[in-house]
Amino acid sequence: MRNFNFHVPTEIEFGKGAADKTAALVKKHGGSRVLLVYGGQSAVKSGLVTYAVRSTKIDEFDLKEGDKIATLVSLSLTPLRIDKIKEIRDEIDQVDIDGKAILFESGIYAKIPADMPETLALSALDVAGAPAQTAKLCKPGDIVLIIGAGGKSGMLCCYEAKKRVGVTGMVIGMCHSQKSTERLQKLGFCDHVFAGNAHDPVGMMEKISELTNGEMADVTINNVNVPDTEMTSILCTKDTGVVYFFSMATSFTKAALGAEGVGSDVTMIVGNGYTRGHAEITLQLLRESKELRDIFTELYA
Ligand SMILES: NC(=O)c1ccc[n+]([C@@H]2O[C@H](COP(=O)([O-])OP(=O)(O)OC[C@H]3O[C@@H](n4cnc5c(N)ncnc54)[C@H](OP(=O)(O)O)[C@@H]3O)[C@@H](O)[C@H]2O)c1
Repeated sequence: MRNFNFHVPTEIEFGKGAADKTAALVKKHGGSRVLLVYGGQSAVKSGLVTYAVRSTKIDEFDLKEGDKIATLVSLSLTPLRIDKIKEIRDEIDQVDIDGKAILFESGIYAKIPADMPETLALSALDVAGAPAQTAKLCKPGDIVLIIGAGGKSGMLCCYEAKKRVGVTGMVIGMCHSQKSTERLQKLGFCDHVFAGNAHDPVGMMEKISELTNGEMADVTINNVNVPDTEMTSILCTKDTGVVYFFSMATSFTKAALGAEGVGSDVTMIVGNGYTRGHAEITLQLLRESKELRDIFTELYA
C-alpha cells in the first residue's frame, strides 16, 4: 500500500449573490462542471439553480458583473420597466431612465467600449445594421447611391461604401436640406453630393443618370426617415442592381408593386437591423475616421 495525503480545501461562498459567482469559482479551481446537491424543490423554487446556471451563461458571453452593455435588440422587443424618466434628448433620439430591462439569452448586445463615450457608441450602434450591410453589398468598382446620405446612418454608409468601392467605384450621396448636404460635402467621403428630394423619382432618376453617364447605381441604400421614397430608390438603380431599404418608413407594398409597375428586375432587401458583426464593424468606423467620430460627437454624443 502507498502512503498518500489527500487534502481537499473547501471554499464556501455564502449569502446574497453567491450563486452568481458559480462560473467564476469553478474556473478558479480549474473545473468545468457543477454538481448541484439539494433536497426537495427549494433550490429550484428559490431561484438558486437559475442564478447558478445564469452565471455560467454570463461567463460564456464574456461578461462580468458591472459591465455596461447596449442591447442591439429593438426597444420595441425588449421587456422594459421604466421607474423614472431622467432626461429626454429628442434632438438625438435618446432618453435617460432608471429602470430594468430584460435581455434574453438569444438577444444580441455589444459591450460599451472603453475608448469612446457611451453616448457616442450608443448613437452609432443604433444604426449599426446599415454600414455593416453596406460593407457586404458593395464591391470594388460599384456605383453606390446613398439616399438620406447626410443623416446618421447615411454618413456611416457613405464612409463604408467609399472604402469598399475604391478608386474605380463611385459613391453618390443624395441629401435633402442644405445643412446636411454641406455637412456631407465637407466630410469628403463621396464622389458626388447633392441636395435632392427622394419624393421626386423622375427628377432623381435623371440626376443619377447624368452623374453616371446613364449607367445608374449598382447598389442603392435608402436611409431616409420619411415615407414614399421607394420609387426613387428603384428608378435610380440598374435592373440588375440591389436596393437595400434600411429606412423603416419603407412600404413593402409600394416597393414590390412599384418595381413591377416599371418592369424593374432589381433585387430588394428588407432592412434587417442585424447582420453578423454589425456592432464591431460600426464602432470600428468611429475609430478609423476622425471626421466621422468628430461629426458624431458634435451631433449625437
Ligand atoms: N432597419 C433597421 O433596423 C433600422 C434601425 C435604426 C433605424 N432605422 C431607420 O433608418 C432610417 C434612418 O435613420 P437615421 O437615424 O439615419 O435618420 P436621420 O439621421 O434622421 O437621417 C434621415 C435622413 O433622411 C433625409 N431625408 C428626409 N427627407 C428626405 C427626402 N425627401 N429626400 C432625401 N432625403 C431625405 C434627411 O435629410 P435632412 O436632414 O437634410 O432633412 C436625413 O438626413 C429611419 O427611417 C430609421 O427608422 C432602421
